[in-house]
Amino acid sequence: MTQASDKQRDILVTSALPYANGPIHLGHLLEYIQTDIWARYQKMRGHNCYYVCADDAHGTAIMLRAEREGISAEQLIDRIRDEHQEDFAGFNIRFDNYYSTHSEENQQFSEYIYRKIKENGHIATRQITQFFDPEKEMFLADRFIKGTCPKCKAEDQYGDNCEACGATYTPAELINPRSAVSGATPVEKQSEHYFFKLPDFDSFLKEWTRSGTLQEQVANKLAEWLDAGLQEWDISRDKPYFGFEIPDAPGKYFYVWLDAPIGYLASFKNLCNRTDIDFEHFWKADSTAEVYHFIGKDIINFHALFWPAMLHDAGFRTPTAVWAHGFVTVNGKKMSKSRGTFIMARTYLDHLNPEYLRYYFAAKLTAGVDDMDLNLEDFAARVNSDLVGKVVNIASRSAGFITKRFDGRLGQVTETDRLNTFIEAGEDIADLYEAREFGRAMRRIMELADIANQYVNDEQPWVIAKQEGQDEKLQAICTNAINMFRLLMTYLAPVLPKTAEGAESFLNARLDWNERSQLLEDHPIDKFKPLMNRVDMAQIEKMIEASKEELPAATGQQAEKAPVADLEPIADEIEFPDFAKVDLRVVRIVKAEHVEGADKLLRLTLDVGHGERNVFAGIKSAYKPEDLEGRLTVMVANLKPRKMKFGLSEGMVLAAGPGGKDIFILSPDSGATPGMRVM
Ligand code: MSP
Ligand code: ZN
Repeated sequence: MTQASDKQRDILVTSALPYANGPIHLGHLLEYIQTDIWARYQKMRGHNCYYVCADDAHGTAIMLRAEREGISAEQLIDRIRDEHQEDFAGFNIRFDNYYSTHSEENQQFSEYIYRKIKENGHIATRQITQFFDPEKEMFLADRFIKGTCPKCKAEDQYGDNCEACGATYTPAELINPRSAVSGATPVEKQSEHYFFKLPDFDSFLKEWTRSGTLQEQVANKLAEWLDAGLQEWDISRDKPYFGFEIPDAPGKYFYVWLDAPIGYLASFKNLCNRTDIDFEHFWKADSTAEVYHFIGKDIINFHALFWPAMLHDAGFRTPTAVWAHGFVTVNGKKMSKSRGTFIMARTYLDHLNPEYLRYYFAAKLTAGVDDMDLNLEDFAARVNSDLVGKVVNIASRSAGFITKRFDGRLGQVTETDRLNTFIEAGEDIADLYEAREFGRAMRRIMELADIANQYVNDEQPWVIAKQEGQDEKLQAICTNAINMFRLLMTYLAPVLPKTAEGAESFLNARLDWNERSQLLEDHPIDKFKPLMNRVDMAQIEKMIEASKEELPAATGQQAEKAPVADLEPIADEIEFPDFAKVDLRVVRIVKAEHVEGADKLLRLTLDVGHGERNVFAGIKSAYKPEDLEGRLTVMVANLKPRKMKFGLSEGMVLAAGPGGKDIFILSPDSGATPGMRVM
């Protein structure tokens, strides 16, 4: 399947649009890195490839967060979009356009598509009954209702499932339901909703999902859903809602998931408006251009059922393929704030080179939907041995002689056969990139790197350098090796764009995949500067510490999935003796102060009844220091002191709440004295 360079292709690539209510983390980055590598590869082959994305700006969670912060939703989404763009730029993700779903183009397309679908008779309306918050005057989605689990009686469970016992239920079954927004007791209320009649597309979707558009595993999963029968999809939400109002339906808004994928069209349209790219050519029903969506496995139904049906019905082409990937775990477990493995893009960039992560993800990526573990020790070992030890090493072992002995000039290549092997391997590697088998591509490249290092080991230029009259030989060895290095860097360029730039300036030559058989001979190169340093475990540890420092200020990731706080699963069971080891004490907050340079922390001086303790707590967003002094709280008094960036923390205070302004650490003042044991 070498479509490579034979014919110029028109390709549009997208990644899922990240929610505009939380920062980018390493889990997200798997997707943006995967897509970016693929897009960069296509561009390198000379195809017309465009990579567009946008922030997914609508929905209840964003509206509520803006309210909590006391700003408008527009202000919030603008700020978050800037942050997202900075994070992506930090990881060398090169979008051709990064837009927002809260845009004019998106509103126009959303209305257009909705009207078409309606004209075609695929919109139904009917009354539904939902919980309503009488205080906030808003309807409450299941996840905005909390109450006591009807099965195990655990308190404070979300409206659709119990975190404690795993039961699923409807909010109506909850005991003592409350609005998670205001705390009010919700009432049942009717309202008219708009539905997209997905069952009308049953046969279209049965065919579409089996026409090579999906990975086999995904197609099989969807076949199960399709066999079970499709449901109509509720596409409206009542005001107050941050989104687009539905035409001719005052007070009704498009559900965020209706206009989110349309955001792909809108972002691309916005790009076309600024350039001479032809939107129609890419999106008309019989388009010969290719359109690919990279997504996570959690959002397959939106992309492989609703979205193609909408496009098809409104007269647009459907995607050439939808490619799902699995989820990132860190050190074998779900990313976790308390373990410091919920790592934000920004925190990573403060400590480590983005190219490391790009390489590690590439080395582990397949075309499948399996989850991927970021094992931090393996990460360091892999980067150090492959990139620093193998690839960069080839150049650093040969460049010095060229600079010192040959005035920076390469001579003639003598290992033509060996170099031909390198050039030909480019065909296989190309196919692997094309097929998103990046892990296999990286292994193939590292095999070549092994050959190159073996060559240098065998020839021992450092020995030849000491021999009289061997100049020509020395120059040839180094010229061969540097040409090998150049080919390796050409193949790695989609994965390591910054390192590739460094290599280009060192080599004084472009890394051009299609022209790679043109070897560098009698060619001036620059003085070699190390292109990459070794990863140091200490940097990784610092990153983990910094990620813990963000605790417990919840960031409200993944709005539509877990809006109020980031829901972590209940940790593994512990035995009672383990629990009994935890010494919880009532303590008085003697002093509370700001910590210079820390966004989230307050320094607390706590009276434990047996003296004072210094504790850093991530509660700055919720408390003013002066309101804390003199009050009581509960702390873990026997936690081993931990050195943090700002000093020693001698224990932890217990906190509850979703984060932001809502973190609660205070204990009632009555009847407790510092030092009292809590149990
Ligand atoms: N806003 C929706 C997507 C709309 S697309 C029209 C959304 N946003 S998200 O911010 O929650 O996720 C963005 C992408 O990142 C999704 O494809 C999601 O699967 C992916 N990931 C989020 N967390 C992830 C991991 N821990 N691991 C891998 N991918 C993850 O969903
Ligand atoms: Zn339960």
